[in-house]
Amino acid sequence: MNAVKEFQKNILAESIPNHPEDILLAFEDFELLMMRYESAIREIQTKLEILNAELSLTQADNPITSINSRLKKPASIYGKLIRQGNEISLESVEENLNDVAGIRVICAFVDDIYKVARMLVRQDDIKLIEIKDYIKNPKPNGYRSFHMILEIPVFFAKEKKPIRVEVQIRTVAMDFWASLEHQIRYKKGLPKEKADDIAAELKACADTIADTDLRMLSIKEKLGPVT
Ligand code: GTP
Ligand code: MG
Repeated sequence: MNAVKEFQKNILAESIPNHPEDILLAFEDFELLMMRYESAIREIQTKLEILNAELSLTQADNPITSINSRLKKPASIYGKLIRQGNEISLESVEENLNDVAGIRVICAFVDDIYKVARMLVRQDDIKLIEIKDYIKNPKPNGYRSFHMILEIPVFFAKEKKPIRVEVQIRTVAMDFWASLEHQIRYKKGLPKEKADDIAAELKACADTIADTDLRMLSIKEKLGPVT
């Protein structure tokens, strides 16, 4: 890092102690890096939309109900690097964070989740870095979702860059559960007894939802192919 940048960084760190993540914004190429992650999201999102469009024409099947994406905010990028004990630099973001670019795919049925994942991963420009199947192995709190870290090459004016994207695929019901659980997780100051009650109730709901998802799938299978 050159002296000017070092100075800029220190000034920012001192003058805005409540926003230490602003250090990231002082890196000259931060915006460029974010644009690259945004581009990778678009590449993957387009692939998903193409698969859904093709299947709805050829098989009257719409495995994907909706797709959402998000770029991780500077404050979260900064916070995660610090928590991991990694240095604060753009190289460190690229090396140590797999979820700066995030896509969430919502499906109606559990089998659609695996169908979508398989169709994506077998495309030959996509590299599968990691899978976490919280549907086969739910978290103790009841969280269910299928997660993949993918790497996709994106073509820019002067180079081709491999870029990582976190893809979360889950059913409408799992997503409904996760959004409520997420809200409660950040609720501060609940008395312990109340928090334990809510956690137990949420876990019970997660199990009911998983059961209902399987029963819905079995009804779909009994109905047979839509013609
Ligand atoms: P993070 O550091 O949280 O990103 O976890 P990780 O790198 O170990 O990856 P993991 O696949 O476990 O989680 C990635 C993301 O999935 C999280 O950032 C959340 O968006 C979501 N997630 C994971 N666990 C839970 C959970 O228990 N509840 C909810 N609501 N979301 C979860
Ligand atoms: Mg994350």
